Amino acid sequence: MEKLALFGGKPIRKEFLVFGAPDIKEKEIKEVVATLKSGWLSTGPRVAKFEEDFKNYIGCKHAIALNSCTAGLHLALEIAGIGRGDEVITTPLTFASTANVIIHQGATPIFVDVEKETGNIDPQRIEEFIKKKCKVNTRTGQLANRQTGQLLKAIIPVHLYGRPCKMDEIMKIAKENNLLVIEDAAHAVETYYKGKKIGNIGDLTAFSFYATKNVVTGEGGMLTTNNDEWTKRLRVLRLHGLSKDAWKRYSQEGFTPYDILYPGYKYNMMDIQAAIGIHQLKRVEENLKIREKYFRMYNKAFSSTSEIKIPIEEENIRHARHLYTILLKLEKLKCDRNQMVVALQAENIGIGIHFLTIHLSSYYKKRFGFKKEDFPQAEYISDRTLSLPLSTKLTEEDINDVIEAVRKVIKHYKR
Ligand SMILES: Cc1ncc(COP(=O)(O)O)c(C=O)c1O
Repeated sequence: MEKLALFGGKPIRKEFLVFGAPDIKEKEIKEVVATLKSGWLSTGPRVAKFEEDFKNYIGCKHAIALNSCTAGLHLALEIAGIGRGDEVITTPLTFASTANVIIHQGATPIFVDVEKETGNIDPQRIEEFIKKKCKVNTRTGQLANRQTGQLLKAIIPVHLYGRPCKMDEIMKIAKENNLLVIEDAAHAVETYYKGKKIGNIGDLTAFSFYATKNVVTGEGGMLTTNNDEWTKRLRVLRLHGLSKDAWKRYSQEGFTPYDILYPGYKYNMMDIQAAIGIHQLKRVEENLKIREKYFRMYNKAFSSTSEIKIPIEEENIRHARHLYTILLKLEKLKCDRNQMVVALQAENIGIGIHFLTIHLSSYYKKRFGFKKEDFPQAEYISDRTLSLPLSTKLTEEDINDVIEAVRKVIKHYKR
């Protein structure tokens, strides 16, 4: 039996429109098949090529391919020597792993609130935290939290939805206070900030190639840095801490035994993944233009819908157009965000939520005693945000279906 829309009648679309569908073309498929036939599936020549291509695209010195962005964030903290007794400033309006990796290292996440207009970490809130809650240890010169006695070591800004954070302000605060900047650029492969490419600004930057991202490898990530010493160790740390990777161990160069230099991790990328990434990266600019077009179609369609707030446009940046998110003006609606999502899904439109604020999730509430109103801007967005499909796999007709469905549901729920 055909599914009905929530308010009766036929849904806007016959088939369900998958949110974040990956756009895989024949070239990726052929390269994966060639990899499968090559006799080498794990980290090898294709990973080396993908690293080289990515490094050139970003314009940075080093790119280290990994099995996820989460692995990248974790290794960044590890290489920076951040662990027990340390604190890291970040945003609560992000994906779980940005904060989880800080916990993995035995360190403590310090959330500060976000900007109302962008959802990005607010540099003023970072400064406020440092001024009000921290002091400099005169012996070491390191910033310490007065209340906990722990050392402040780094800031992790997240370029939310593909929009760059205010990096001039963040880099200035970091420099003045002896903090490292580790960027979460999971959404931001194509992002520029004031003419500078993301991936070439902070100390380390982690990118994601997860199945829904702008550049896809299924699972996968890349860590970029301009630090030579770190890069040497990162390459070892990503593969169990072994002195030689398998590609070299099993090569024709003759036998040399491996050594364990550090207790490393299993974070390497496979050639099968890189085979997809190499061709995805070739289309990165072309795909951005398509998402740019869809982004503008949504903006135009909703600019005069008074129940919706559309994303702001900023000068002097390039937004990666990873997610098209709207904020619901709940005071003008008879539903909450979750009811809106259910209604849109009943119209056969896949919807994403980016993000539910981390500080109100069970673990973080229980462990750190967070409560409602701790970060009002993050909570405001968390309660009202929803993301509409923006994949390059979609056609203009698909985008028009989404627009029609949103209009239909808004009309039903408006006060
Ligand atoms: C902001 C942000 N950071 C980190 C990640 C983690 O990326 P990955 O799945 O590649 O580990 C994601 C993934 O969705 C994300 O959205």
